[in-house]
Amino acid sequence: MPPVEIKPDIYWVGVNDRTTDLFEGLWPITQEGVSYNAYLINDEKTAIVDLAKSTKGDEFLNQIDRVVDVSRLDYVIVNHMEPDHSGLLRTIRRLAPGAIILGTKRTRDMLESFYGITDNVRVVEDGDTLDLGKHTLRFYVTPFVHWPETMMTYEVDHQILFACDAFGSYGALRGAIFDDECTDLEFYEQQALRYYANIVALFSNAVLRAIDKLGSVPVSVIAPSHGLVWRKDPGRIVQLYKKWAEYATGPTEPGVTLIYGSMYGNTESMMNAVAQGISRAGVPVDIYDAAHTHASYILSSLWTQRGVMVGAPTYEGGLFPPVAQVLEIAGHKKIRGRLTARFGSYGWSGGAQREFERIVTPLQWDIVDTFEFVGAPTEDELRHGEEFGARFAELIVQKEA
Ligand SMILES: Cc1cc2nc3c(=O)[nH]c(=O)nc-3n(C[C@H](O)[C@H](O)[C@H](O)COP(=O)(O)O)c2cc1C
Ligand SMILES: [Fe+2]
Ligand SMILES: [Fe+2]
Repeated sequence: MPPVEIKPDIYWVGVNDRTTDLFEGLWPITQEGVSYNAYLINDEKTAIVDLAKSTKGDEFLNQIDRVVDVSRLDYVIVNHMEPDHSGLLRTIRRLAPGAIILGTKRTRDMLESFYGITDNVRVVEDGDTLDLGKHTLRFYVTPFVHWPETMMTYEVDHQILFACDAFGSYGALRGAIFDDECTDLEFYEQQALRYYANIVALFSNAVLRAIDKLGSVPVSVIAPSHGLVWRKDPGRIVQLYKKWAEYATGPTEPGVTLIYGSMYGNTESMMNAVAQGISRAGVPVDIYDAAHTHASYILSSLWTQRGVMVGAPTYEGGLFPPVAQVLEIAGHKKIRGRLTARFGSYGWSGGAQREFERIVTPLQWDIVDTFEFVGAPTEDELRHGEEFGARFAELIVQKEA
């Protein structure tokens, strides 16, 4: 995609990545892709805000060259040192050795430890400005959105916030870069939630602090470093991020994430009965087979929903491992304070429940019910399973009231 002028002399010069399978080496993006958005201000002085992952070198340098000869760059602004944005720093340094790199104090240290760069680096303090001629940039230090060194860059004249990871999403850009040109906003909002739950969730307090800090700054365009640029309704993505950040400690949505796994179908039969019960009570339920669905996708639901119904058989004296792994990742993301219940089949002496409790108790999940059965479920047990699901769903709704 060629550069797009988002305001006079301010260009999107990002690249799409449709070949990386795992973002951060962990989160699947094979189907969705991701964009590394960078922005070039072509004024009396030229400045680029963030770069891209090193694997995209040629394409990214071409993007810059279409607007201005890369050797003529005056400033490279590093909002964030994660290599999806900083990976091309050494290349840019070779091609534009005179360009000054700007970042926070912690960025200065990381420039040395990640890339061995110590020269021509300028540390900016919160609120500092940079005059480019017709355009002025102001820097806001926003630690831990997403790393400790993170800052945001604000273009004062057109009120553009280059927010880096904040307000970003998975999903390569499909020609349209702006929210008002995009015909599938729902896709990007879903992918923003998955990105939030995978990447940003642990830093929710920092997100709220940053939103609060920038509360009095007039913003006409939110230009993140992944996903859509929001110019029609920048408040929309800010509100979504705020809502998701508040889920870290506050009330979540009255629905159920049902995570299950099954080796030979016994727990799966019961899962269908339990899901019937939940649905009968009119409560929304997202169902995931933990062995076939990457935790990345399950986290979107776990982050937002109040109830977690777990279906898992006993495996070698413990909890069926694919289900255990998803719960461990939920723990890593500090998904706390959920209502939960577990059902599952076992063959002789069981053991799944013990491991389940070991994992979820430290997360302050309230285990409200358990239903274990031996081997294949009987008709009576399936009826019981439906009631078990309905009872759980009713508790989810009651907790809201
Ligand atoms: C590899 C394997 C390991 C198992 N380990 C245990 C065990 O340690 N304790 C137990 O009570 N049952 C154990 N079982 C029995 C299963 O829990 C039982 O077959 C159950 O019905 C499986 O449910 P599913 O069809 O939903 O996978 C094991 C089964 C398999 C296949
Ligand atoms: Fe990041
Ligand atoms: Fe990023």
